[in-house]
Amino acid sequence: MKLVYTVASAFLVVLIAQSAYASEKLSAQDYAYNSTCLNHLRSHIKRELQAAVTYLAMGAWANHYSVQRPGLANFFFDSASEEREHGLKLLGYLRMRGHNDLDILPSSLEPLNGKYEWENSLSALRQALKMEKDVTESIKKIIDYCADAEDHQLADYLTGDFMEEQLKGQRNVAGLANTLQGVLRKQPRLGEWIFDNNLSKSMAV
Ligand SMILES: *[C@@H]1O[C@H](CO)[C@@H](O)[C@H](O)[C@H]1NC(C)=O
Ligand SMILES: *[C@@H]1O[C@H](CO)[C@@H](O)[C@H](O)[C@H]1NC(C)=O
Ligand SMILES: [Fe+2]
Repeated sequence: MKLVYTVASAFLVVLIAQSAYASEKLSAQDYAYNSTCLNHLRSHIKRELQAAVTYLAMGAWANHYSVQRPGLANFFFDSASEEREHGLKLLGYLRMRGHNDLDILPSSLEPLNGKYEWENSLSALRQALKMEKDVTESIKKIIDYCADAEDHQLADYLTGDFMEEQLKGQRNVAGLANTLQGVLRKQPRLGEWIFDNNLSKSMAV
């Protein structure tokens, strides 16, 4: 009799535990978040995608038969893919946080300032550098806002992973612009061609 009683109460415990699981609400949100902070991050996706479009326009320009800078064209096309990846990475992060707003595309597919042509390689690289600096600034502002809003998870994610990649990209563009400037000083006529030839080779490896 005592054994039956023990087995029955063990069953009861299991049943209660199961029903406790069944009534638990399953939500992706693990804590109350500041919606403005997540909205700022979502808006930032638009910036990354607009940078992708701008790099595509720069690549198309460098690739044009009258410009013929294949090294730079490859660099810009690769950069466009990277910017697109950044946008998707942020989208994945927002989904993971339970943010599901679909408004992630720029309002138009125009490159920045509606510009499709550049005076020369250096002016294209200068605009690219300015664009990267603006993106960095935007990320910094989101970090500050979200840290104030006590979304430390988001602030940490952006400060670590994401900002590091952004700064690497920015340094890379600045390095190219400086190198080109140096080569042009020594070789005003052939400098751009020498630089591009070298860039083609270094991107091929
Ligand atoms: C989000 O955080 C900011 C900055 O701390 C605060 O001013 C704002 O009221 C918060 N908004 C919401 C919706 O919680
Ligand atoms: C050529 O490329 C190398 C790295 O790939 C770089 O260090 C060097 O400064 C470049 N030189 C010119 C003239 O572009
Ligand atoms: Fe980016």
